Amino acid sequence: MSSIYYLTDLQQTYNGRRVLDIDRLEIGRGEALAVLGPSGAGKSTLLRLLNFLERPSGGTLTFDGRAVADEWPLEQRRRVTTVFQRPALLHRSVVANLTYGLRLRGKKLAAAERDAWLDRLGLAHLAGQSAPRLSAGEAQRVALARALVLQPDVLLLDEPSANLDPYNIGLIERLVAEARRRDDPAATGMTIVWVTHDIFQARRVADRVAFLLNGRLVEEADAATFFTAPATPQAEAFLRGELVYEEKMLQ
Ligand SMILES: Nc1ncnc2c1ncn2[C@@H]1O[C@H](COP(=O)(O)OP(=O)(O)OP(=O)(O)O)[C@@H](O)[C@H]1O
Ligand SMILES: [Mg+2]
Repeated sequence: MSSIYYLTDLQQTYNGRRVLDIDRLEIGRGEALAVLGPSGAGKSTLLRLLNFLERPSGGTLTFDGRAVADEWPLEQRRRVTTVFQRPALLHRSVVANLTYGLRLRGKKLAAAERDAWLDRLGLAHLAGQSAPRLSAGEAQRVALARALVLQPDVLLLDEPSANLDPYNIGLIERLVAEARRRDDPAATGMTIVWVTHDIFQARRVADRVAFLLNGRLVEEADAATFFTAPATPQAEAFLRGELVYEEKMLQ
């Protein structure tokens, strides 16, 4: 099966400083890829390229067989949705937030489906609540559901459950797992790219791991291999919690 993303010599430079330099990475259709690495490794930068928010300063990014270009069509951009660590919700009700993306696309959420989502989110009692009054965990559940109702081909998650309590972390992971389950076995499920600092979470959610350090892809492996037998001393040190981040510019 062909991959949904191909990255070749992909680079991002800010103010003359190269913060991302990935020789080659493929992301398979329907897989859950965890992106790991210390703070500043370039994980969020990678996601900004994968969701077409930024253009790379060098190299090629191919999405579903097409090289991403400056004039990247809206219908392609809409195939990828991102959930960030801090959700930016509209100052409107939970339901208005849930349906906002669909409305932009000229679609509606049937009442039964809306109620099913509210139940799944554990927010049925807060349907009319104004989003700014939600707790952090509630708000993040809404942000995730708002992305999932769009049924994107790719869901990018940038530490969506950092700073949440175990109950909300569990709910977030369950919502993503449920979204990946396909009704139609012939169809490819949603592709997940999940940036997390939590290696235990990565073990729970990922099929494969990409480990970044100083903007480079240091190791890429299926999750079982990465966590039990990392191939590089850097990954091993990271898993032991001993990796000291060196501020180092890529040349
Ligand atoms: N818009 C920008 N302008 C200048 N520098 C940037 C910009 N965005 C990111 N950087 C720099 O690029 C490097 C990688 O940042 P990035 O946010 O991708 O790291 P990260 O791996 O997501 O880190 P964290 O785990 O802390 O979120 C950092 O040194 C950061 O300061
Ligand atoms: Mg980040």
